[in-house]
Amino acid sequence: MRVVLVGDALTGERLAFDVYDERGRLLLAAGSVLTPRYVRELTARGYRSIGIVDPLAPDVLQTEPLRAATRDQATRTVTRCMSSAAASGGGIQAAGILAVIEDILRCMQSSRALAVNLLNLRNPEGELFTHSVNVCAYALLLAADSQLGLDRVDLRHLGIGALLHDIGKIFCMDVVSQTSPLSPAEYGRLQRHTVDGFELLRRQQEIDLRAAHIAFQHHERLDGSGYPRGLSGGQIHPWARLVAVADCYDAATGSRPGSDPRPPHVVLAELEAEAGAGRLDADFTGLLRARVAAYPVGSILQLRSGEIAVVTAQTEAGPDRPRFRVLAGADRVRTAPDERDAAPGRPGTEIADVLPDYPAELLQNTP
Ligand SMILES: [Fe+2]
Repeated sequence: MRVVLVGDALTGERLAFDVYDERGRLLLAAGSVLTPRYVRELTARGYRSIGIVDPLAPDVLQTEPLRAATRDQATRTVTRCMSSAAASGGGIQAAGILAVIEDILRCMQSSRALAVNLLNLRNPEGELFTHSVNVCAYALLLAADSQLGLDRVDLRHLGIGALLHDIGKIFCMDVVSQTSPLSPAEYGRLQRHTVDGFELLRRQQEIDLRAAHIAFQHHERLDGSGYPRGLSGGQIHPWARLVAVADCYDAATGSRPGSDPRPPHVVLAELEAEAGAGRLDADFTGLLRARVAAYPVGSILQLRSGEIAVVTAQTEAGPDRPRFRVLAGADRVRTAPDERDAAPGRPGTEIADVLPDYPAELLQNTP
């Protein structure tokens, strides 16, 4: 199974998950073959990415540490919370948020053995809300592994700040959803989401001031190049530095209006370069690299040998050493499936590249 952007090229592919409409009614069942009409319908309803069955490896399923019910509940809670804050001019109904944080924390802690990745299924509930849940999950994963020494109560506060880090965007949703380049004035309004979010959160009695500072400072950069205040180094709260890493990772690997997602191994290298240039926290970036899957299950690989393979599992050897199934030789002709573990230096197991799809000739040669 692979998560792909919704577009005409999906005609003929099979859906991996049920798709529901905005009222929770089944729109398309898992297994449905996508027709041009279905693709148009998904596009019209705001679906940006969906899961499709891998035609050459239908048994390979991409999973994530968040249980479906947890993700669903978390997304609905954050949507309700932000919408009520927008409607009431700033009041937050915090009810339900703590339960959601606890649930996400449990999910992330129960997946501690192998590298993780979160699904980038972006649906009509909105990029902002899916992104908020993902950032919260990644932040809790990093926080638990970090040297911050947080107890369970602190983890909850950090989780709330991560979940609501972008809440200030409810005041500029027209700019957030704009796909054309932003004017300087529009970019200025977008940057204000940090200040607006902080002002909103710090007025809530149940919310820790450190959590409010996550909203305030998650776009600050260690070298002073960030916003809104151009803080640098130790002026930026460690929780905001941590959420900045989780935020950058999920934003770059997910689909957003105006930009296509990039594969995890590329984004991890980009973040490491940002840390090397002194903008992102190097410790948290290193923790991310150690915990998220550089090559998620379902990724299509081109090996250094030229062979084509699909990732089938993560292994204990490390987040950049997945198990994969070789499906075709360098000549693009199908071979008997052969499972191998990635191992640098060993011929036939070295990953050269991640492909967006199988080479056309390989799909054509498939019975
Ligand atoms: Fe933000």
